[in-house]
Amino acid sequence: MSTAAEIEISYGVSPDFFRLWLGDALHYTCAVFDDTDDLDEAQRAKLALIHEYAGIRPDTRVLDIGCGWGGNLAYLATERQVKDAHGITLSRAQHAEIERLNLPGVTVHCVDYRDYEPVERFDALTSICMIEHACRPEQVRTGEALGILRGFFRRAWEWTVPGASFGLQHVLYDRVPRESADIREMGWLTDRIFPGGAAPRMEDIVHAVGPYWEIVRLRTRRTDYTRTLGHWRERLRRNEKLIRATWGDELFADYDRYLTFCMRAFEQRYHSLAQWSLRRID
Ligand SMILES: C[S@@+](CC[C@H](N)C(=O)[O-])C[C@H]1O[C@@H](n2cnc3c(N)ncnc32)[C@H](O)[C@@H]1O
Repeated sequence: MSTAAEIEISYGVSPDFFRLWLGDALHYTCAVFDDTDDLDEAQRAKLALIHEYAGIRPDTRVLDIGCGWGGNLAYLATERQVKDAHGITLSRAQHAEIERLNLPGVTVHCVDYRDYEPVERFDALTSICMIEHACRPEQVRTGEALGILRGFFRRAWEWTVPGASFGLQHVLYDRVPRESADIREMGWLTDRIFPGGAAPRMEDIVHAVGPYWEIVRLRTRRTDYTRTLGHWRERLRRNEKLIRATWGDELFADYDRYLTFCMRAFEQRYHSLAQWSLRRID
C-alpha cells in the first residue's frame, strides 16, 4: 500500500496546480465520453454512472473511499441532494481542501482505509480510482495482492448494511509491456508520480470480491481514459508558462512525461479502466 508520505508525493502539490489541468472540480480519474466531447461534462457523466451503479438516492448514507479533493462528495451534496455523505482520504492536503469547501451534509476523515471505523454503517459505497494504492508493486510480485484486495473488500462489507451496493472504478493492469523503453517508463511513472501503487488485474478483483460482493455489472473503458489523458495534457501544456513560473520546470516536465506515457499505456492496452456495480452478499 502507498504510505502516507508516498500519497503526499502523488497528491500533495497545491490544488491550484491540479485545478489548472484537471478542472475546477478536481476529478483525478477517467471520465465517460459516451455523449460528449467536453471533459467537464464527461466527468459528470462518470459520476452519474457510478451513482447509478451504487444505487444512491438522497436518503442514502454514502461513503466515498479515496475521495480525492472532494469532487464526488460535492456532486453528492449539491447535485444529488444526498444528506449524509462521508469521505476518506490518506492525503492531509486533500483533507484540508475538502474541509475548506464546507460542503453541506459532508464529513471527511484523513485516515487509512485499514484503520477506518465508522460509527454507523453505510447504505452505499463509491470508490473511484483508489484501489490502485492498495498493493505495492513488490507485494504483487510476492503474490500478496489477492489477500490484500480481499481484505479491502472485507472491510467494505463490514462498513455496510445488508442490501448495500458499491460503485467501483479503477485502473486495470492488463498487458505486460514488451518494449524495454515502455518497461522503463512504467517504472519511472510508479516511482516518481504514484509511488507504492500498483493497478490490479481484473482476475484478482473477480476473486477478491467473491466472498463479500456479487458482481452485478462490469464495464471497461480503456479508450475513455486515453481521451481523458489527452484533455489533461492539452490543458497542462496550455498552462505551461504559469506552471513553470509557479512550481518549477521539473514539475511541468514530470507531469507532461507522465501524461504522455499514460496515453501510450492505454493505447497499447498495458492499462485499461474498469467500472463495477457490486451488491453486498448478505
Ligand atoms: C487518484 S485519487 C482519486 C481521487 C478521487 N476519487 C477522484 O475521483 O478524483 C486516489 C485517492 O485515494 C486515496 N487513498 C490512497 N490510499 C488510501 C488509503 N490507504 N486509505 C484511504 N484513502 C487512500 C488518496 O488519498 C486519493 O484521495
